[in-house]
Amino acid sequence: FSPKPLAGQQVLVSAGPTFEAIDPVRGLTNLSSGKMGFAIARAAHEAGAQVTLVAGPVSLPTPRGVGRINVKSALNMQKTLNVLSQSASVFVSAAAVADWRPVQAAEQKIKKDGSGEVPTLSFVENPDILAGIAASARAQNGALYCVGFAAESQDLLALAQSKRVRKGVPLLVGNIGPDTFGQDDNALLLVDEHGVTELPRADKLVLARQLVAEIARRLPEHKAA
Ligand code: C5P
Repeated sequence: FSPKPLAGQQVLVSAGPTFEAIDPVRGLTNLSSGKMGFAIARAAHEAGAQVTLVAGPVSLPTPRGVGRINVKSALNMQKTLNVLSQSASVFVSAAAVADWRPVQAAEQKIKKDGSGEVPTLSFVENPDILAGIAASARAQNGALYCVGFAAESQDLLALAQSKRVRKGVPLLVGNIGPDTFGQDDNALLLVDEHGVTELPRADKLVLARQLVAEIARRLPEHKAA
């Protein structure tokens, strides 16, 4: 018997930004330190889970006992997560995925030619990684419990509630960005089908442990559904 709430679970966590190349020396990215996702990976490991962390470009040490795969672009992250999610029982999508990527990265550095002319960039939308994984989880009778994040600067509750439905996930975690980006503190709003749970402002590791406990509490009901 193990008292650890996530013993026997395979937890997959995405964290950090993605980087979408414009040319070999430039790119488009998001403001994300990766701290919240890394804290969740650490907390899930402490709770007894086998944890894999898929990280965009961040400068954070890998939590002890956690497996880590580094990725760069959203497409790269999607490919990795799609494969790993097939053998996971929980997926926490904390990555800040870039919404768009340049249609094609230039093979050589785009040069200033002195004329004052500026380059024009065209973008395409990146796939919604979480929505895709949540859809296949539902198709497989929900063996995988998916948790999404929403960083909003206003109307957090309403946006988190509608995002939960739009992404098709049982649990959506709202956080009050962007003032908490890169900070050690955060505050979370957990939205599921039963309602809202507030985790007041605290250190990200403290919140990560509380979030992991909340996820563990919801797993039996999810499996039975
Ligand atoms: O729509 P929005 O970007 O606010 O949704 C945030 C949630 O969706 C996060 O859990 C994020 O990891 C995930 N996401 C994703 N793929 C995208 C955009 C967001 O998985 N292209």
